Amino acid sequence: MISAILFLDLLFLICLLVFTGFLLIKLFFSLFIIFGAPFVPAPIEKVRKMLELASPKQGEILYDLGSGDAKILIEAARKYNVKCNGIEINPVLVRMSTRRIEKLGLQNKIKIHQGNFFKKDFSDADVILIYLFQPTMVLLERKFLSELKPGTRIVSLAFTFDNIPFIKSLPDYPYIRLYEIPTVDRIK
Ligand SMILES: C[S@@+](CC[C@H](N)C(=O)[O-])C[C@H]1O[C@@H](n2cnc3c(N)ncnc32)[C@H](O)[C@@H]1O
Repeated sequence: MISAILFLDLLFLICLLVFTGFLLIKLFFSLFIIFGAPFVPAPIEKVRKMLELASPKQGEILYDLGSGDAKILIEAARKYNVKCNGIEINPVLVRMSTRRIEKLGLQNKIKIHQGNFFKKDFSDADVILIYLFQPTMVLLERKFLSELKPGTRIVSLAFTFDNIPFIKSLPDYPYIRLYEIPTVDRIK
């Protein structure tokens, strides 16, 4: 009887520890919302549609701002043969994605830069993919309009810009949108 009670106590303790650990990990990844967005990986089907909409050309420079697990970059490097750059603020994700890229032998095609994309220069981009958060889009819009070269394509999953010209979305995926930096009306 006593050993049964002890066993149940132990089981309860283990469940509590696992649950607390899970909550702490969740909290850690969610904390990055204060910099721009929490880590919520885009499903691969949507990643493929984002890339289809961006239609990167061979040799172009592509960025994923908030590159997370580098899923977008890996897909882009493999399918489109472009030069891929990720900017990611979470050091755990930077380490994990860098390892994954090395394992796949893609280190010559994909570079992950650790840091805050608001403080980075990505003005050499031809294509930018983003899956962030609406308040972050408002802040990024000004940086994009003042720093990116005309014609730079931006594909956003779920969130929108007000002042960057919207070009199109795919019929079955209206929440994946292509924008393009205009030649006129640049913010100084
Ligand atoms: C919604 S996730 C998207 C991950 C990946 N791009 C994808 O689509 O699967 C947003 C990512 O942006 C990162 N992030 C948030 N704010 C950032 C900032 N200011 N600079 C760099 N990365 C940031 C988060 O750590 C998180 O990994």
